[in-house]
Amino acid sequence: MDQAGTLRKMTRRDDRGKVAAVSGVKVIAVTSGKGGVGKTNVVANLGYALATLGKKVMVLDADLGLGNLDILLGLTPKYNLTDVIHHRKKVREIIVEGPGGMKILPASSGIQEVTHLSNGEKRNLIAQMDTLEEEMDFLLIDTAAGISSNVMFFNVAAHDILVVTSPEPTAITDAYALMKVMSTRYSENRFQLLINGVRCESEAKDVYKKLCTVADRFLNIAIDYVGHIVQDPVVTRAVREQTAISQRYPGSPASTCFRRLARALSTRHGEVHPKGNIQFFWKRIFQVA
Ligand SMILES: Nc1ncnc2c1ncn2[C@@H]1O[C@H](COP(=O)(O)OP(=O)(O)O)[C@@H](O)[C@H]1O
Ligand SMILES: [Mg+2]
Repeated sequence: MDQAGTLRKMTRRDDRGKVAAVSGVKVIAVTSGKGGVGKTNVVANLGYALATLGKKVMVLDADLGLGNLDILLGLTPKYNLTDVIHHRKKVREIIVEGPGGMKILPASSGIQEVTHLSNGEKRNLIAQMDTLEEEMDFLLIDTAAGISSNVMFFNVAAHDILVVTSPEPTAITDAYALMKVMSTRYSENRFQLLINGVRCESEAKDVYKKLCTVADRFLNIAIDYVGHIVQDPVVTRAVREQTAISQRYPGSPASTCFRRLARALSTRHGEVHPKGNIQFFWKRIFQVA
């Protein structure tokens, strides 16, 4: 079957026998080569900024053990994906509401279990995730850092891979290594780059140019510059206060950057994507995992 045929098949809603349009949900995996470059902060604050633009946002903490997205947002989820996998809860019952109305899908150890499910369990999970489709414009995934991570499949399944790096040479090198592995091993050839913790935009653009120059020479990939977030003491302050930056410090430089990033991503939102709808996303996870 050709790619278009597969996509049409995937978008067919078997429950009603109707062929639905490709869903408007955009799945973005936020990832990095090196740890500690700001992924979790980006997911939390970009999520908040998108929500304040009126977008329906869901975030998934897929960084097993180190994610702490819930703590960052001052939330204490009672249940997680494990409860859904073991039929103790419906997916709707595990979702918690965060600042600005964004929704958090707590995953915890359920993330590791996803890779070991039987076909029946996979079908159940896909069907449950499918019921959330109407409630999302964006699904942001906070992934673990690195190339040997057991959540690499999230990057492959997502529509967009948002690579976060800081301007430090070690972080840039690791971002390059991540994109190299994703392109050679998983045939991913398009990446979005966000540079976090810079003094100004021109510093971020320099990092972008450096990465592009090397990638153009050695890899067959395209890197899109999606924006920068300045180094700003309110980021750490907001972490300590367990709140989104734009909620407590709306006038801060970092908050301005997140709003700008959210606007840029929401103008691109709505593009029909070759990786299909949200159900297709979960199916791809199981194919790759
Ligand atoms: N733009 C920024 N300005 C200042 N500090 C930041 C910024 N982004 C992240 N940090 C700090 O860097 C640390 C790591 O951020 P975190 O989001 O947990 O990284 P990761 O999820 O990639 O491991 C945190 O202490 C956070 O407060
Ligand atoms: Mg993190």
